[in-house]
Amino acid sequence: MALPFAPKISPLMKRHKRGDFSCGKKPLNDYLQSRASQDMKRGLAAVFILEGGNEADIAGFYALSALSIEAGDLTEFAAKGLPVTRPVPCTLLGQFAVHEKWKGHGVGAWLLGHVLLNVTVHAGKVGSFALIVDATDDEARAYWRHSGFIPFPATPNRLFLPMKTLKKWLEKQ
Ligand SMILES: CC(C)(COP(=O)(O)OP(=O)(O)OC[C@H]1O[C@@H](n2cnc3c(N)ncnc32)[C@H](O)[C@@H]1OP(=O)(O)O)[C@@H](O)C(=O)NCCC(=O)NCCS
Repeated sequence: MALPFAPKISPLMKRHKRGDFSCGKKPLNDYLQSRASQDMKRGLAAVFILEGGNEADIAGFYALSALSIEAGDLTEFAAKGLPVTRPVPCTLLGQFAVHEKWKGHGVGAWLLGHVLLNVTVHAGKVGSFALIVDATDDEARAYWRHSGFIPFPATPNRLFLPMKTLKKWLEKQ
């Protein structure tokens, strides 16, 4: 689906009008407006902005961080062959949102495509077993399920997508 504006991704910068961003979920708006910049400065997250037609407008954003998990937390099938005596390195998609004015126009699908490409390239340089997301509510959980993510058995609001699956998806593009 063609987007209603020419998409451009940039790391979060001062020029981005964070106060104008609203995705309908307060914790995500608050993160972008109050914490994202600090997280970038402290090296806690890499925050990427989808610019919505001009350099200042934010059509969507996402944040990535490193995270390690225990193999035993995954589904039995996914954990097969993984070490049980040391943590498994993964990538956390800690935040992901689209401005509410663009909802239902394919912007989320485009932005998720960018996440998957970015994460796959990164995993080629720094090992990462899977991309992990934490769903903030049932609606978000449904979105991640719809996008192919698999729930952790004991914590179903945490979901994962193995890098193996991502690579196969990319090969088909
Ligand atoms: C969830 C969100 C990112 C979707 O963005 P969007 O631009 O409206 O989504 P798109 O138009 O690209 O739709 C992509 C697909 O996801 C589906 N979808 C969208 N929201 C969905 C939901 N809540 N549950 C299930 N599927 C959903 C669409 O039907 C579409 O499916 P299709 O490709 O089979 O046609 C956006 O609504 C948002 O920012 N919500 C608030 C923040 C949030 O919940 N973030 C995710 C959890 S952290």
